[in-house]
Amino acid sequence: MKRYFRSIPCLLLFLALGLAGCWDDTTNVGTLQFKNPVNIPPLLEPTIDNAGTKRFTLTMQSGTTEFFKGKDTPTWGINGSYLGPTIRVSRGDQVSFEVNNNLKETSTLHWHGMRLPAEMDGGPHQMIEAGETWKPHWTIDQPAATTWYHPHLHEKTALHVYRGIAGLFLIEDEESTKLPSDYGVDDIPIIIQDKLFQGNGSLSEKVNLEPFGLLGNQILINGTHDPYLKVTSSQIRFRLLNGSNARGYTIGFSDNRTFRLIGNDAGLLPEPVSIERLLLSPGERAEIVIEFKPGEETILRSFKGGDGILNGEFELIKIIADQQLANSPPLPKQITKEPPIEVPGQATERKFRLTTESKINGKKMDMYRIDQVIPAGSREIWVITNNGWDHNFHIHDAAFTILDKNGKAPPVYERGRKDTVFIPKGTTVRLAVDFGSYPDPDTPYMYHCHLLYHEDSGMMGQFVIVEPGTESQVSRQLPEGENDHGH
Ligand code: C2O
Ligand code: CU
Ligand code: CU
Repeated sequence: MKRYFRSIPCLLLFLALGLAGCWDDTTNVGTLQFKNPVNIPPLLEPTIDNAGTKRFTLTMQSGTTEFFKGKDTPTWGINGSYLGPTIRVSRGDQVSFEVNNNLKETSTLHWHGMRLPAEMDGGPHQMIEAGETWKPHWTIDQPAATTWYHPHLHEKTALHVYRGIAGLFLIEDEESTKLPSDYGVDDIPIIIQDKLFQGNGSLSEKVNLEPFGLLGNQILINGTHDPYLKVTSSQIRFRLLNGSNARGYTIGFSDNRTFRLIGNDAGLLPEPVSIERLLLSPGERAEIVIEFKPGEETILRSFKGGDGILNGEFELIKIIADQQLANSPPLPKQITKEPPIEVPGQATERKFRLTTESKINGKKMDMYRIDQVIPAGSREIWVITNNGWDHNFHIHDAAFTILDKNGKAPPVYERGRKDTVFIPKGTTVRLAVDFGSYPDPDTPYMYHCHLLYHEDSGMMGQFVIVEPGTESQVSRQLPEGENDHGH
């Protein structure tokens, strides 16, 4: 009982007064029984049209979900009541989507990590009104990666994601399929989200930790509370996604075993790296491979990593290895031949300052202001300095490597291709960024803090990708009400 409370006096106060502040909301350690089989989001089957395009249908909807026995929690989801299906495609595929908005309000659906034309990006400008359908389409043209999708409505992203709209979007190629890739068997999605529930089972939607946003005291994995996973192979690949609004996780196992990192946000690593811990801030992904002996059990968990968004200690999911395990082939020594992202000698350098008022370079997000104009296909150095609270930084239609953090090489788990980077307070990061190649001077992409409360409060900027040489002709002001249906 003591574990639930900060202290015994607190427990007594709680019993006497119902003092909510006495709940220890930074840990669930010791409170779980791991009694629910973890949900594996289904793979979404496309139909294939005459042109060979894979067509997918996604329907945003509201419903209820039974996270706790006998309690119906009002939630949102895609093709279901909570979260959405996993989409899996191959490099080179042509894809098209019908995204139906069956919610009672406007939303959007953004493809986080995808390289695609700005009009297809699903950012704040591609609004889907209640009852309407949005039909984006593009060709998958990037290395294998674990990407994801989620709403991106300006000032409403936190709420829409929190209510449950999010899902995985896996891109495969010849290299990625040499790794464990039997979905749901030895290739397991692990979507980590913290939630704050009210007594009646509904989700609390109030910001409870200024200045970071909404931090929960309960963890859902793929939408399952108190979960376990049975595995039947000697090597299991986890695709970890921090799908939380604000919380960061210092990931490892209860028995401190080592595991191998094989990929970051934007793709696979050249070779596997053995590690014991890795940090995931909101929006970040990591692919890891864990080895199991028959009959053993371990708990994937988050260790206390600091203050602010890292101030937590959570058990995530228990993994139980079968008595009989299929023998997995050894991991390839070289996973990907994809060359590292390097910038040319004369690369453009852009500077960004993150400050305590959730501003970037002194400005709040403006839907009608273009902040950066970038030549198509360019590689640049972005230098981001955080003089505020803890933040992170995500760039649409791009992949980057971290050159350094405060002048030092980043930790090993952050050395691969990424699209989101954690920037603790007092840190300057330098990124080598590879931008997309679809010019469109009228439709912006976003860069922003992925702590969704900060993003919604204006910590976001807009850039357009243009035909090289046309930068100076681009209008820095978008016409109001043309692309969009109002603010
Ligand atoms: Cu995951 Cu601009 O978002
Ligand atoms: Cu994104
Ligand atoms: Cu932030």
